[in-house]
Amino acid sequence: MNALARLLFIAVALLPGSMTSSNKGEPSSDELTRIVGGSEVPQNEYVPYQISLQYQTKRGITHFCGGSIIAPNRILTAAHCCQGLNVTRMTVVAGVRNLDDRTGYRSKALNCTTHPDYTALDTSDIAVLSIDPPLKYNNHTIAPISVKGKEFVPGNVSVTVTGWGRRFAISLPFLEQFIYPNSLRRMNYATITNEKCRARLMTKVTERDICAQGLFRGVCTGDSGGPLVMKTSKGVHQVGVVAYGLAICGLSITPDVYTRVSAFSDWIQKQL
Ligand SMILES: *[C@@H]1O[C@H](CO)[C@@H](O)[C@H](O)[C@H]1NC(C)=O
Ligand SMILES: *[C@@H]1O[C@H](CO)[C@@H](O)[C@H](O)[C@H]1NC(C)=O
Ligand SMILES: *[C@@H]1O[C@H](CO)[C@@H](O)[C@H](O)[C@H]1NC(C)=O
Ligand SMILES: *[C@@H]1O[C@H](CO)[C@@H](O)[C@H](O)[C@H]1NC(C)=O
Repeated sequence: MNALARLLFIAVALLPGSMTSSNKGEPSSDELTRIVGGSEVPQNEYVPYQISLQYQTKRGITHFCGGSIIAPNRILTAAHCCQGLNVTRMTVVAGVRNLDDRTGYRSKALNCTTHPDYTALDTSDIAVLSIDPPLKYNNHTIAPISVKGKEFVPGNVSVTVTGWGRRFAISLPFLEQFIYPNSLRRMNYATITNEKCRARLMTKVTERDICAQGLFRGVCTGDSGGPLVMKTSKGVHQVGVVAYGLAICGLSITPDVYTRVSAFSDWIQKQL
């Protein structure tokens, strides 16, 4: 491994580790991933399958990961969003565009089933949360996303990711409000083939992952667990779960790595 590759690998390793690195066993808001680039979802528009995963800390309840609705009482997210955390302190907020919006629905997390093959920064970063009470679909602000199917998504496919994650790579303490927007953000870019992804230093990528990359954009701390979707003739379909990327987000140095939903189709169906 040359010096640059080593540096990048260390940077990459920082990300999900941050979820458990605070020895209090709490996600620290400073280190969470959020979207860089992209734009705010317009007022009165919702991404009805997107949820905010929140954690009760001593300072209050904070957003720390994303997720998607796959059944009234099931949420798809990343395994690293559950690892080392106390599930009884987790809640899911659905039906909001703005995190300050009190009209959303909050459900308690009952348990989090992480994939048995999950290894941090390596493979199978996927989990299903059971929640209660179950969500009531209304078409406009709360609706499920399609995750069924094993079709392998190739490179150069237009995809969209959403999240309440960081907008900038650099942390400026007195600008936190600006860096962590309360409004949901959306970003479009394209998938790349796994071969290209490995060639661009994400060497551990396998057929169970899917990569995307775009200029000056990417996911960042806090977007973890959120949905990567594509448009199909049958509607919007989820193809990825935000897994990991470079700690310095949005510099387009390396691709973003997602867990490939189609590779886990049978496992997901078993959790419903
Ligand atoms: C999890 O959190 C609940 C509520 O704060 C607490 O009662 C419980 O002891 C915690 N469990 C662990 C293993 O820390
Ligand atoms: C999680 O909770 C749901 C609902 O209570 C239950 O059906 C499921 O079996 C639980 N899963 C695990 C792994 O405990
Ligand atoms: C949801 O929207 C679809 C298409 O716009 C419509 O056909 C359906 O009746 C709506 N369902 C509800 C419950 O509003
Ligand atoms: C990627 O797809 C676009 C259309 O979506 C096409 O114009 C472009 O040539 C494709 N690029 C490659 C490298 O295949």
